[in-house]
Amino acid sequence: MTLPEARDFSFLFSKETKSRKPSPLKTCIHHFSNPNLIFLGGGLPLSDYFPWDNLSAESPLPPFTKGIGASPTGSKDDTLNVLVKKNEKTGDDIPLARALQYGHSNGQPELLDFLRGHTTEIHDMKYADWEVIASVGNTNAWESTLRIFCDRGDVVLFEEYSFSSCLAACEAQGVTTIPIPIDAFGIVPEKLEDLLDNWTPNAPKPKLLYTIPTGQNPTGTSLPNDRREAIYRIAQKHDFLIVEDEPYYFLQVGDYIEDLKKREQVYSAPKQSHEEFKKSLVKSFLSLDTEGRVIRLDSFSKVLGPGTRLGWITGSKQLMKAYVSLHEMTIQCPSGFSQVLVAGTLHRWGQGGYLDWLIGLRHEYVGKRDHTIDSLTKYLPKNDVFSVVPPVAGMFFTVNIDASAHPEFKTKYNSDPSKVENAIYEKVISRGVLVVPGGWFKTAGQTNPPLPDKSDKSKANEIFFRGTYAAVAPEKLEEGLKRLCDALKEEFGFTN
Ligand SMILES: Cc1ncc(COP(=O)(O)O)c(C=O)c1O
Repeated sequence: MTLPEARDFSFLFSKETKSRKPSPLKTCIHHFSNPNLIFLGGGLPLSDYFPWDNLSAESPLPPFTKGIGASPTGSKDDTLNVLVKKNEKTGDDIPLARALQYGHSNGQPELLDFLRGHTTEIHDMKYADWEVIASVGNTNAWESTLRIFCDRGDVVLFEEYSFSSCLAACEAQGVTTIPIPIDAFGIVPEKLEDLLDNWTPNAPKPKLLYTIPTGQNPTGTSLPNDRREAIYRIAQKHDFLIVEDEPYYFLQVGDYIEDLKKREQVYSAPKQSHEEFKKSLVKSFLSLDTEGRVIRLDSFSKVLGPGTRLGWITGSKQLMKAYVSLHEMTIQCPSGFSQVLVAGTLHRWGQGGYLDWLIGLRHEYVGKRDHTIDSLTKYLPKNDVFSVVPPVAGMFFTVNIDASAHPEFKTKYNSDPSKVENAIYEKVISRGVLVVPGGWFKTAGQTNPPLPDKSDKSKANEIFFRGTYAAVAPEKLEEGLKRLCDALKEEFGFTN
């Protein structure tokens, strides 16, 4: 079947993007690899003077039978050796002489080959001219996205609580962030549609929806497939782009099973095959996209290591070209060392080996999620002041709290839930645990002229705290959760 071509979305570009001309120096860099041309044209240092002759690393070997946390012993049964030479092109490796040189702003070809293969494995691409480019992780990719599409005063839709760095990037660039109501499953499509259908005439319409669909930061929610489909249709109707920021996509841990016997039964099933694993994943917005309306931001931060500072962006060729032009003048490209090591490891693991890694990682997070919810069930008082929705993806849980149930809500805190939130924050720190107030992640913004107030007054006294189960070992995690629950009990005057 021939796939359609992506639509032209250049009408959404910012003034900056529309006025950017390709850097003239970058238009001749490809001649550098032509052996018949004496290249005197660019400020490229001679690779003889790069002081590294090779780069080597050891990693565990697929299928990671001892678990992904087990260190390689050096034996050939469990250890993979990556050795990349400066001037030799072996297999799918990126020679160091090239990786450490200028050029390839879109990413080294060998890394991009792997990522294209991975995209084809995981996402059901529905248009022909899509492309993948390398990024320095999703923080960078979002900053670039804002510059490519938004001028000061433009509007971007966000989940009503969202990743604070991405909100801060908007604020700094003068971009208005409009909150979309969410519930325990993320964005509520009907509310999104209502907001857009009743948009104030003459108020600037949104150019982008920024969403963290899976294991949302900070709420831990994940959008089910039917909501993703509904949101995509709304994006078509109101003609904005969807930017899915998906660092937690592969940490899909499934439903929490409270009954221990049932849990044991389910978990003792044989390890998932690659096909079963892929089938179990929620559909990405990218998979639903028939016209190049989705930009997907992926990162190795949560699956390999944040310090790789390596990620990738997927979208239509037209849009990816705009990113490369910007990156030529900003990041130039992700670190060559990082690209060499990550691509060298991934090519040796193969697509299947990488899936084994992701399956292993998911297994670890299932345990962490279960341990967290088990502990919260054990230590949190059973009443309707506190509630926890077990996350099905990501690394975050939230404890939701009815601030109006605080015994001093009216007297000491003037019926202001944010004051209760502050008091709880101080209390939990004094009890030796840190969780983060939900208020730190609030999306706040208004258009000019303003949008009608659609906020849900019944939720006015709801506050929450975000915690993560990713960062500590199981014993510490349980102790931290116990301290949190003890502090909450004390603050609200509960005895058990
Ligand atoms: C939603 C979201 N986007 C981006 C990031 C940062 O990702 P990166 O390390 O790829 O810049 C985080 C992580 O903390 C995040 O939660």
